[in-house]
Amino acid sequence: MEFSIKSGSPEKQRSACIVAGVFEARRLTLAAEILDKSTDGYISGVLRRGDMEGKAGTTLLLHNIPGTLSERVLLVGLGKEKDFREKDFLAAVRTAIKALHDTGAFDASIFLTEIAVKKRSVAWRIRQATIAALDASYRFDQFKSKKDESRRPLRKLTFAVSRRNELAQAEQGLAQGLAIAEGVALSKNLGNLPANICHPTYLAEQAQAMAEELKLECNILERADMEKLGMHSLLSVAQGSRQPPKLIVLSYKGAKSSEKPIVLVGKGVTFDTGGISLKPAAEMDEMKYDMCGAATVLGTLRATARLALPINLTVIVPATENMPDAMATRPGDIVTSMSGQTIEILNTDAEGRLILCDALTYAERFDPDTVIDVATLTGACVVALGHVASGLFSDKDTLARDLLDAAEDSCDRAWRMPLWDDYQELLKSPFADMGNIGGRWGGSITAACFLSRFTKKYAWAHLDIAGTAWKSGADKGATGRPVPLLMHYLLQRAGKLN
Ligand code: BES
Ligand code: MN
Ligand code: ZN
Repeated sequence: MEFSIKSGSPEKQRSACIVAGVFEARRLTLAAEILDKSTDGYISGVLRRGDMEGKAGTTLLLHNIPGTLSERVLLVGLGKEKDFREKDFLAAVRTAIKALHDTGAFDASIFLTEIAVKKRSVAWRIRQATIAALDASYRFDQFKSKKDESRRPLRKLTFAVSRRNELAQAEQGLAQGLAIAEGVALSKNLGNLPANICHPTYLAEQAQAMAEELKLECNILERADMEKLGMHSLLSVAQGSRQPPKLIVLSYKGAKSSEKPIVLVGKGVTFDTGGISLKPAAEMDEMKYDMCGAATVLGTLRATARLALPINLTVIVPATENMPDAMATRPGDIVTSMSGQTIEILNTDAEGRLILCDALTYAERFDPDTVIDVATLTGACVVALGHVASGLFSDKDTLARDLLDAAEDSCDRAWRMPLWDDYQELLKSPFADMGNIGGRWGGSITAACFLSRFTKKYAWAHLDIAGTAWKSGADKGATGRPVPLLMHYLLQRAGKLN
């Protein structure tokens, strides 16, 4: 899809479709009002006859209105004007895009981006609208032998801004939105691929290809390298699989080499059967999404490199399968992690923390400014927060605040959870320095507490994305979250947010 920005009057646009908003009780937005005036009250006439009320989620397509230069006008319901917030704005953009895909229009001029959203800048509106539009247009049909090409000729979108002096800001918002959307799409594609294709070696190959394309440093550690480093916790998960594990390290350098990097660590379990602590059969297919942490940190790196942000960013992905096998770890086995701390593996299904702890220890060698790990870590996080917010854990209040702000600004929600010492007690083991599980209750917190024992040398935060990384049910698929959250955090750090 091609995108551009324009300032100008809706009735003078020569396009296949003009998109304008209508608030509830048939209150016209500025663009709809201008269209109405130039068409002798055509729009308000249609509304008065009762064809549209302006409720959120509704649309009305009109053809060949005299007095306009465009073939179609698509009216989009916006809901109550006084309650119009960020999420309503984004929902309206999505509704518009979905409706446009059902028309024969090749291009569209979208005036929704002129509508004021409380406290939000033009750059914000254009950036978020771009991400939402591409998100709503996403399809994963590479394994369908017959692609569904019914309608969907839409190729070109133009976002309107009301004033010429907003164009520069809008262009910056567009560039950022395109980069973030590209990161989201990469992350969704990797997530949606089945585990027989997207295995650790595939992830490593993708990382290498990306490194070449974007001029990044890339280093792939093999099993033997991990053995030398003493990553026996990570290796204990990999030993039950025929797929060789990979530790993927990618670095983007956009700032002076003296500047400490931000390090993102992503859980890359390309399939999680649970190992010997085998999962039940129902919905086990969804455990192909257990590498979404990896997919989102790779997506974030791609977006960062695209925007050439003036920061240093390193991504670490421990990639492995978790399989049951004659060689697999048994419950009760004790391993020594790279940090030297010993772990009694009481449940082989708590494998995410076992691979992350060694990756987090490995992160120390980059002398990081900040380390953020992203993982589909616990079912307990889904119980706590559902599919709305990712769980945020950090004992550093300033970092937690920055990430919560980024979550709010990007409409990619997160909610802070505690990391109190009281929960650390639950990880006690009679035989090793710690067990790898903390019992039935507070499971997302004990998992985070486990990770915290490996992150004492730098500022650290953990995002549990078990509930937000993918959707189940009829529209099953990866979401690309939290790429928008992470990108907002990085844009903020790079001083590039308007
Ligand atoms: N990948 C899962 C977490 C998960 C489960 C994410 C369901 C999304 C949906 C993780 O490896 C896991 O199995 N965690 C266990 C931990 C338990 C054994 C302490 C869990 O959450 O049940
Ligand atoms: Mn598991
Ligand atoms: Zn897992």
